[in-house]
Amino acid sequence: MANNFGWYLPTEIIFGDDALVNLKKKAQKFGKKAFLVTGKNFARKSGLRDEIEFLLGEAEIEVKVFSGAIPDPDTKTCEEGARICRKAGCDFIIAAGGGSAIDTAKSIAILAKNPGRLENYFGLERAIRPPLPIIAIPTTSGSGSEVTRYAVIVEAGKKEKKTISCAGIYPRLSLVQPSLTLSLSGFLTAATGVDALSHAVEGALGKRIMPLSLAIARDTVKIIKEALPQVIDNPNDPEGREKMSLAALMAGFVINQTGTVIGHGMGYPLTINYRVQHGAASSLVLPAIFEFLAGKGFRERIVEVTGWEDPATGWRDFCRQIDLPVSLREAGVKKGDLKKIAKEAVANCQRSMDNLGILLTEKDFYEIYRMSF
Ligand SMILES: [Fe+2]
Repeated sequence: MANNFGWYLPTEIIFGDDALVNLKKKAQKFGKKAFLVTGKNFARKSGLRDEIEFLLGEAEIEVKVFSGAIPDPDTKTCEEGARICRKAGCDFIIAAGGGSAIDTAKSIAILAKNPGRLENYFGLERAIRPPLPIIAIPTTSGSGSEVTRYAVIVEAGKKEKKTISCAGIYPRLSLVQPSLTLSLSGFLTAATGVDALSHAVEGALGKRIMPLSLAIARDTVKIIKEALPQVIDNPNDPEGREKMSLAALMAGFVINQTGTVIGHGMGYPLTINYRVQHGAASSLVLPAIFEFLAGKGFRERIVEVTGWEDPATGWRDFCRQIDLPVSLREAGVKKGDLKKIAKEAVANCQRSMDNLGILLTEKDFYEIYRMSF
């Protein structure tokens, strides 16, 4: 446990039933022209985009819409968005969507004010000028991106996800309205919910964990274990949705302070090669990671944070309960590819191995994938 720690979170959070209406009053201080970043369909079809445009209209703020955010955003998409944003001369950015839309918005915020390619800003605090301010409106309960300094981006043409870590891309304001998640499909509810669960658990295994973030991680796990099966059984349950939005936010606080460990890094090649959804991907390898790490002095912490005496079995049973795949085979991964994927995991896990404080070899990664098959 870290005895010396930092805790920085400059995001104003408004959480609850009517969070979104605050946009009208709050957006005015950010400028006269907004760049609205959304995915292709949800914001338009659900009426959220209309509602945002209406509220901004009431505040006499002009809007330029970019509905090109894609799942697992790549550098090309973000650079295209930034080009449109610069041309439109926007003062601030609003991200309405899941983690991918928010991460796209964060990347655009950097490039709107800084020169060159997005690759230049991978890593720690690389922005030279302050990025455009961001308002986040999450529509899933998973990524926690509404309260983190991170954007995770696929480098176009490469099989790697890279992290931008920059205090300038913390959303200045997050409007978390749990009802916006009501129409999420069962699969996305489960997969994004398990993403939040893995943030809490992986975050608790990071070497920067300290008493405050560990307490939040433990509580987050308790909430998700109860609320996620509840919303899978009853998608319209407002209380369950509220608990999941809260849990995603709490897990965001945890990873913002500690970072994720190798569950995320090992999930990235599964997403890049097989399009396995982000949360489902880490979830597939975490049970075998628990077993691997148990032999490296992590058993007590894993049991403490998950609340399962047998964490690998507990995790798999939980995933079965919410209809997520529990093996790489079920997720469509080919056994003959495991060696290749293990090699890619080495590159994808550089940062997370550092967070964990131990170094794994390509053979270790292969063994974990094999145990997950
Ligand atoms: Fe995640």
